[in-house]
Amino acid sequence: MRAQHAVEYAVVRTRDVLDPANDDLAKAGAESEPARRCVVTDRTVERLYGDRLRAYFQARGIEARLVVLDSGEENKNIGAVMHVVEAFDALGLLRRQEPVVGVGGGVLTDIVGFACSTYRRGLPYVKVPTTLIGQVDAGIGAKTGVDHRGHKNRLGSYFPARAVLLDPAFLATLPERHIANGLAEILKLALVRDRRLFELLEQHGPRLLRERFQDLNPAAAGVADEVLQRAIGGMLAELEPNLWEDELERAVDYGHSISPALEMSVLPELLHGEAVAVDMALTTVVSCDRGLTSAADRDRVLEVLSALKLPATHPACRPELLDAALADTVRHRDGRQRIPLTTGVGTVRFADDVTRDELRAAAEFLWNRGGEPHEEGSRWPMN
Ligand SMILES: NC(=O)c1ccc[n+]([C@@H]2O[C@H](COP(=O)([O-])OP(=O)(O)OC[C@H]3O[C@@H](n4cnc5c(N)ncnc54)[C@H](O)[C@@H]3O)[C@@H](O)[C@H]2O)c1
Repeated sequence: MRAQHAVEYAVVRTRDVLDPANDDLAKAGAESEPARRCVVTDRTVERLYGDRLRAYFQARGIEARLVVLDSGEENKNIGAVMHVVEAFDALGLLRRQEPVVGVGGGVLTDIVGFACSTYRRGLPYVKVPTTLIGQVDAGIGAKTGVDHRGHKNRLGSYFPARAVLLDPAFLATLPERHIANGLAEILKLALVRDRRLFELLEQHGPRLLRERFQDLNPAAAGVADEVLQRAIGGMLAELEPNLWEDELERAVDYGHSISPALEMSVLPELLHGEAVAVDMALTTVVSCDRGLTSAADRDRVLEVLSALKLPATHPACRPELLDAALADTVRHRDGRQRIPLTTGVGTVRFADDVTRDELRAAAEFLWNRGGEPHEEGSRWPMN
């Protein structure tokens, strides 16, 4: 028996997706404009955009049913998936012609994607990511999932949406901390494949953070657009040849070796991108200690993290956590570490031999470097 499953989905950059004159959302994922839409969103997005969402579908003559989930990583669990599935049952959705619409951040689109992948073994859906992390990462790939028993994304699937609509206008209402959170994933991509993107973040990072990618400053117009374009294009280029992750050495796993355990161990204190930032700082120092990255480049990376208001260390980064995180990553990557380490800025190589001592030394270096939100003079490892 041999079968193939071709995958094709549209990633569309659009403007003012909730303007009734914009066709993208009404037509997304369907051959002809469906008469009904099940729209899943979260409480915060509903508060900010619920009225415009309803008005959009009403103006288009589409009967829209809104399902609203609790916001936040703490609510990214199988219970949320069951809630969505129950709504599908209650609405009696048609199996192919009425693609579900998920409007929200990475948590929301991961939950909706998982619910759609399992409902009748696959219900088409459309993603409208409303956070920066959603627009450059969570929203444009094929992975869905929820956390389970303290483990990040332990239950999930590969189930791409039919279409993804990216509208930067949503970022205008995003709190600054969540912009920084998305910038962490953009920095990840810059570090593993795009030196120019790194330089853009180095030069314009604080302004992007302040202006929320709305390009308010005419002197540097176009920077926000170029950063988004490079981040999205780079991410898709990394995903396309390896969508099902047959190859477990993935450059885009950079920053995701220690961070899953860290993020879950302090939930909800660190956002996803913040945990990724701490992981990137750790592996940057390991690369430098191995002679793969110069001290000057290491310091540039650490400076960009701090300019983007991202952490480079956290009190939970203690030896036991680093050991447990490494062990779980080895299981996740099928028995080998396959840890991406940067070689300078913009290139990467994989290592299977990162030792506990190297990670501990890196954590200690970052903790003692100062400038982080902890008591002056407290030594690593702390209690
Ligand atoms: N599937 C993937 O490939 C993939 C990749 C990267 C990250 N992720 C997942 O994404 C999640 C993180 O994503 P996130 O940071 O978007 O989280 P999130 O969905 O929790 O959104 C962050 C917060 O912003 C609010 N929000 C959303 N849009 C808003 C807007 N336009 N204005 C104001 N507030 C808004 C949300 O309600 C939430 O409170 C993690 O669970 C991570 O595992 C998945």
